[in-house]
Amino acid sequence: MSDNYHIPVLAEAVRRYLIADKKGIYVDGTVGGWGHAKLLLKDLDREAVFIGLDQDGDALEFATKTLADFPNVYLYRANFADLHSVLDERDITSIHGAFLDLGVSSRQIDNAARGFSFMQDAPLDMRMNRDSEISAVDILNEWSQEQLADLFYRFGEERRSRRIAARVVRVRSSQPVLRTGQLREIIERSVGKQAALKTCARVFQALRIEVNQELRRLEEGLHAAFDALLPGGRIVVLSYHSLEDRRTKEFFRSKADPCHCPPELPQCICGKKPQLKILTRRAVKASEQEIAINSRARSVRLRAGEKL
Ligand SMILES: C[S@@+](CC[C@H](N)C(=O)[O-])C[C@H]1O[C@@H](n2cnc3c(N)ncnc32)[C@H](O)[C@@H]1O
Repeated sequence: MSDNYHIPVLAEAVRRYLIADKKGIYVDGTVGGWGHAKLLLKDLDREAVFIGLDQDGDALEFATKTLADFPNVYLYRANFADLHSVLDERDITSIHGAFLDLGVSSRQIDNAARGFSFMQDAPLDMRMNRDSEISAVDILNEWSQEQLADLFYRFGEERRSRRIAARVVRVRSSQPVLRTGQLREIIERSVGKQAALKTCARVFQALRIEVNQELRRLEEGLHAAFDALLPGGRIVVLSYHSLEDRRTKEFFRSKADPCHCPPELPQCICGKKPQLKILTRRAVKASEQEIAINSRARSVRLRAGEKL
């Protein structure tokens, strides 16, 4: 495993879009290796309150050691979709900013035992929260061929999903599919060695999204964060694939332009007023310099909004 837990992506843009009040209450819903959190904390006044969440116990343990010197930091092992319960526990009714850096950290990918990577052979786990009951093994061995094909297609956008699902079912009829190496071999045999790496990335992404219910939790988390924001409060989201980014973009649009009146009407009759100002007309991307240092930045899309 590398020494670097995780290099924060678009750190300067995150700081600029998120912090409107240096004494405010901020939530980092995905603290991971605390790369962003440490930079944000440097910018905030000591009276500010910083709440960090992560559903992964390892990330929380790491953060607790790293942030021991900051008295204004409160850490919770929690899903950001459950933000309301965390805020209730601290008697906080509203916040000045919420930040989500979606997906898995480099540490989670590099740690072979977590089963997120097809580059190393390990048990097919893929749970960010290791208390949750369903892992990738359960899905691969219990779902029907049709369900698997739909999963690889919907959450991996994989065109050869049916062929791969058929082979998974064939292999598991003689032995369960338990390891990342086995799944990689199934994919290689289904699509050929040349296309295998990109296909592995898509199929592993699909499984990871399903195991962690990532898209459902993202939608719940966006609503929870938005509801908690004060007027003038900011929400900043970093997405790493089109499924996440699409949901974030649609959520922002639904709050910025909620009117559903037919366009031919001369004026709005539904009375729904904008609740969000979109601060990023187009998603912000990383520069070539940043991508050269951190390949993970290649696919990032930053979107930010301010509650009205
Ligand atoms: C991309 S990393 C965050 C890296 C962090 N910004 C940094 O600079 O080190 C994403 C982290 O969010 C956590 N995570 C993902 N989805 C989550 C969710 N729904 N609720 C809470 N934590 C989540 C993962 O466990 C992982 O540690």
